[in-house]
Amino acid sequence: MKLHALVALLAALSTTAHAHSQPELKRHANLKRQTTSSSSASSSAVSSASSAASATVTTSVTGSSSSTGTAVVSSVSTAASAANSGVAATILIESATISGVPALTAITSGMSSGSTFAATTTWATTASPPVSGAPSLPTPFVYSEGVWPTQDKTPPTDTDEVQSWLAELDGWDIPDLEPTTDGTCASDPTFSADAASRGWWTCGAHTRDTDIINCPDKLTWGVSFDDGPGPYTQKLLNYLESVDISATFFVVGSRVIERPAVLVEEYMSGHEISVHTWAHPHLTTLTNEQIVAELGWTRKAIKEVIGVTPTTMRPPYGDIDDRVRAISLAMGLIPIIWTTAGTLGSFDTFDWEVAAGTKTGPECVQEFDNILGNASDIDTGIIVLEHDLYEVTVDLAIGYNLETAQNYNPAFTLKPIGECYGIPTTDLYRESNTNTSFPYTNTTTDVNGDGTADNTTTTTSSGTSTRSSSGVLTINVASIYTTFSLVGLMAFASTLL
Ligand SMILES: *[C@@H]1O[C@H](CO)[C@@H](O)[C@H](O)[C@H]1NC(C)=O
Ligand SMILES: *[C@@H]1O[C@H](CO)[C@@H](O)[C@H](O)[C@H]1NC(C)=O
Ligand SMILES: *[C@@H]1O[C@H](CO)[C@@H](O)[C@H](O)[C@H]1NC(C)=O
Ligand SMILES: *[C@@H]1O[C@H](CO)[C@@H](O)[C@H](O)[C@H]1NC(C)=O
Repeated sequence: MKLHALVALLAALSTTAHAHSQPELKRHANLKRQTTSSSSASSSAVSSASSAASATVTTSVTGSSSSTGTAVVSSVSTAASAANSGVAATILIESATISGVPALTAITSGMSSGSTFAATTTWATTASPPVSGAPSLPTPFVYSEGVWPTQDKTPPTDTDEVQSWLAELDGWDIPDLEPTTDGTCASDPTFSADAASRGWWTCGAHTRDTDIINCPDKLTWGVSFDDGPGPYTQKLLNYLESVDISATFFVVGSRVIERPAVLVEEYMSGHEISVHTWAHPHLTTLTNEQIVAELGWTRKAIKEVIGVTPTTMRPPYGDIDDRVRAISLAMGLIPIIWTTAGTLGSFDTFDWEVAAGTKTGPECVQEFDNILGNASDIDTGIIVLEHDLYEVTVDLAIGYNLETAQNYNPAFTLKPIGECYGIPTTDLYRESNTNTSFPYTNTTTDVNGDGTADNTTTTTSSGTSTRSSSGVLTINVASIYTTFSLVGLMAFASTLL
């Protein structure tokens, strides 16, 4: 009842339906009610209210998260984690030893050093990438107007490119799931009651065997950064090089065409590159064609800049269901999410909330310390959400979180996700991939886990469209919010450049 009142209050207070403000998540029959529901509901209300507030000053960020902290599987008993939480007390680093990184309390929303970091190396087009069998670098990318869709907006579907990519869905049985309203449980009670059978991650952390959600080896951290290349990505790359750590970068197509040299630098320095959509929408809200457009244009942008096409992707906000999953797999992209473990929550650093002004630097580092404490209790390694689009999140990563992980006791091994998962680097790109049953084929893949392959004998490249185009951008509050805040962010970012 109390929770319900809060939900109503929240709805009244906030005109946005932001991904992490979904206390209703906990109310559905197939989800376990968590002991912390009231406190998480109130913190959602707080963060939602301040997200709305910061949106009005146009410097808010698109948080890449969800409240799937309240997942279904529990791998550690409450008693065990209570016992351990007493032991795991690590001393938080409060002042970075890395030059150019402010003290923790000084890392706040809107913080700007005024410095930007252009790509430091100019790579020759003949340079050989550090991936065996990959083609040499293409000539440096030059943006041409009219060739690329509008940035930060889901690309139109009536183009030749999207129509030809739709043929990749032939032979796949794409589940006939209606698009969600905004990717959150709260807005779609009927769909959320059915979240397990939809395989909907944002609504209960439902995953499928085809998803990559952790690193198999205990005490291994699959390091990744989302949403770039950004103005501070090179600062992160400099640090990663100095400590000899490689990571996976989930890049946004709209950013790739903006900072192609930074993407080249990531790839040539030995980091893994993966698809993170064109405009960062909640993919479950889109039609099949729009999902194809989001993934296809990003794939194409990456290919034109570095000469290879990734075979993996990460859905923004983790918003995936069996329809999005099947379309991604049909397009040769294996979904990678991040680790959730029952009551231990979602392994999200919430660094984006510091950028958005809804968490402080010390809270974020504490959160990460909890993640490492909990990660030493589970049987697998972990994948953790972090971002490279903002100066705040880059400073938190290089000054604090990556340092903490390297100095942790017990020690963590830091690797990019493909490597920690045991995927040969060559298989991470279509052009160098030598495994004919990878990513997955249209004849053998059982997307929803019901025991039969999700194939179809009819080829329906034009018939794959089943969705009306309602429920899309024009009436989608979350998408408007996303677009709006990205526009704000672009304006904000351009003042720094
Ligand atoms: C499966 O995909 C291949 C291309 O990868 C295509 O040639 C074939 O027609 C598809 N199978 C069906 C049943 O559509
Ligand atoms: C696990 O995370 C929870 C909060 O998410 C925290 O309270 C707890 O201390 C963590 N456990 C360890 C061992 O750090
Ligand atoms: C090829 O990929 C499949 C997964 O699709 C995997 O099970 C298999 O081990 C891979 N083979 C090699 C040689 O890496
Ligand atoms: C679809 O998958 C089944 C296995 O579940 C297989 O027997 C059948 O040949 C496949 N159909 C096509 C058209 O590939």
